[in-house]
Amino acid sequence: MRTLDDLDVAGKAVVARVDFNVPLRDGQITDDARIQAALPTLRELREKGATRLVLLAHLGRPKGRDPELSLEPVAKRLGELLDVDVALADEPDADALPTGDVVMVENVRFFDGETDDDPALATRYASLGEVFVNDAFGAAHRAHASTHGVARLLPGAAGRLLQREIETLTGILADPERPLVAIVGGAKVTDKIGVLDAFLEVADTILIGGAMMFPFAKAQGHEVGSSLCEEDGIEPAKRLLDEGADKLELPVDVVAGRAFDAATETQAIDGLDVPDGWMGLDVGERTAARYAEVIAGAGTVFWNGPMGAFELAPFAAGTRAVAQAVADCPGTTVVGGGDSAAAIAEFGLADRVTHLSTGGGAALELLEGKPLPGVEVLS
Ligand code: 3PG
Ligand code: MG
Repeated sequence: MRTLDDLDVAGKAVVARVDFNVPLRDGQITDDARIQAALPTLRELREKGATRLVLLAHLGRPKGRDPELSLEPVAKRLGELLDVDVALADEPDADALPTGDVVMVENVRFFDGETDDDPALATRYASLGEVFVNDAFGAAHRAHASTHGVARLLPGAAGRLLQREIETLTGILADPERPLVAIVGGAKVTDKIGVLDAFLEVADTILIGGAMMFPFAKAQGHEVGSSLCEEDGIEPAKRLLDEGADKLELPVDVVAGRAFDAATETQAIDGLDVPDGWMGLDVGERTAARYAEVIAGAGTVFWNGPMGAFELAPFAAGTRAVAQAVADCPGTTVVGGGDSAAAIAEFGLADRVTHLSTGGGAALELLEGKPLPGVEVLS
């Protein structure tokens, strides 16, 4: 993969794809971590004499133009962080581009052909500069016109964020300090099968949490009550249990509620059997203590997916305990993006981990060993 060390940008206009897919509430950015994460690359490009930066980014999953998913608040926030005016272009057309050192094109998903990797749209993007830099790790698993098509048309390289993400995440699998502990949670086991298979090969221990524990529980013959339990996940869970008996650890207790509601009646259950009329919404105290102990002794930790419904206060303790243990672990700690990144940020521990990935799906696909179209095209 080519990096900024291999690309001459002096005196050139740079088209840069960034992942500014930030959470918004009422038009306000609630977490600008992804914007912050791209700053080193953008600053380096400017320091190295790029004449102008033309930024491509997506926001949400609009079908056509949608004013609620305009990049306007993002352009404004970036302008504040870089201390420059960031003009927003409605269309990716070179002759209609506003002036300025840093220009952002509107949400690329407003344009026909973006998600189909349409070569005509990629050509319009390519017309906006002389070289291409991709720093959008979070979107690197998408073969879209702004992540893939445009990269085939201009000399290109990975930005520093993309480079660090790839190096850190592939480093975990290639040469980890041992023991290597993977903590995998979240709602759906079918989303995580690939990554569980990858860790079965290299990890020393895999700790399971979140609602994806229930297909495992059911595969072992436990009752799951009205817990979220993905039917399609039961067979794969059975196979993973067969193949990984020596590495996989399941919760030994759960916290259940009557309903998915912070005000619901709760019950601590020893073991994995959830009675009728109850749903398991967090791992229990004994599980949290056990997982924290395993994490404390790890040389390398990878964490993806919460242990429970941490957005509801009565069911946040398991995820909080894991987040704290990961923060306290003296080894290398890497947190996959998405919900676990949101959790660690909410608990105020984001700066206590070695690497907080900006990619959810992209990080998982990379660890699964799948080629990332946005990265492959840069080599
Ligand atoms: C993300 O938030 O996961 C990335 O920005 C990619 O977004 P997407 O899943 O809509 O492609
Ligand atoms: Mg996603």
